[in-house]
Amino acid sequence: MAGTPELWIATYEAETSEELADAYEKWAGDYDADTVDGMGYVGPITAAAMLDHYLDTKSARVLDAGCGTGLVGEILHKMGYGHVDAMDYSCDMLREAEKKDVYKQCFEEDMNRDLALPDNSYDATICVGTFTYAHVGPDAFEELVRVTRPGGHITFTIRDGAYQEYGYRDKMLELEAENVWRLQEMREKDYLVKESVTAKFCTYQVLPG
Ligand SMILES: C[S@@+](CC[C@H](N)C(=O)[O-])C[C@H]1O[C@@H](n2cnc3c(N)ncnc32)[C@H](O)[C@@H]1O
Repeated sequence: MAGTPELWIATYEAETSEELADAYEKWAGDYDADTVDGMGYVGPITAAAMLDHYLDTKSARVLDAGCGTGLVGEILHKMGYGHVDAMDYSCDMLREAEKKDVYKQCFEEDMNRDLALPDNSYDATICVGTFTYAHVGPDAFEELVRVTRPGGHITFTIRDGAYQEYGYRDKMLELEAENVWRLQEMREKDYLVKESVTAKFCTYQVLPG
């Protein structure tokens, strides 16, 4: 892991939401170069391709939850998606995302709380790199389901070690058992190629309530 950015490590070691926001404030300007070039970050392109497989139209309303600097939005924009909104709790990361000019709207939301968004606002939601150590907990799945219309899709990544340890697995299974969503696909794939880190890439379909 020689050359691993210290600020990346800081995002995993943060003990409070404020410490995490501080780490992202410091990292926002260098995030794209450090992750994509430095660590071989392929999470956004792999997840965007996975979601694209399930969408019928490029005019789908898509929410990029935990958008960061907008790497996912850039890829969806190149694929032809024109109605993608961006949401993150770090105003510094959001500012970088806005500069890319690939989103319809960018707004601040804390995903560990209820979202100020109406039910069924989106045809699809994508969340990359945000279900992981010290970031957003498994209860956030319920809000992503609420804002995604029945029949719509939710694609997300989960860092491997965190999958069981942080309760994501239990919550995913609970929502399956309650017929809240149906698993379409779950695959272990490369995430940070140069760090030999993999992640789970998952897509669920939201079921009628
Ligand atoms: C590793 S970055 C991933 C960003 C982007 N999706 C990507 O793939 O490059 C994680 C993002 O989650 C955001 N985040 C962390 N905790 C959050 C929370 N409670 N609510 C919303 N966003 C949060 C961070 O600000 C950061 O932008």
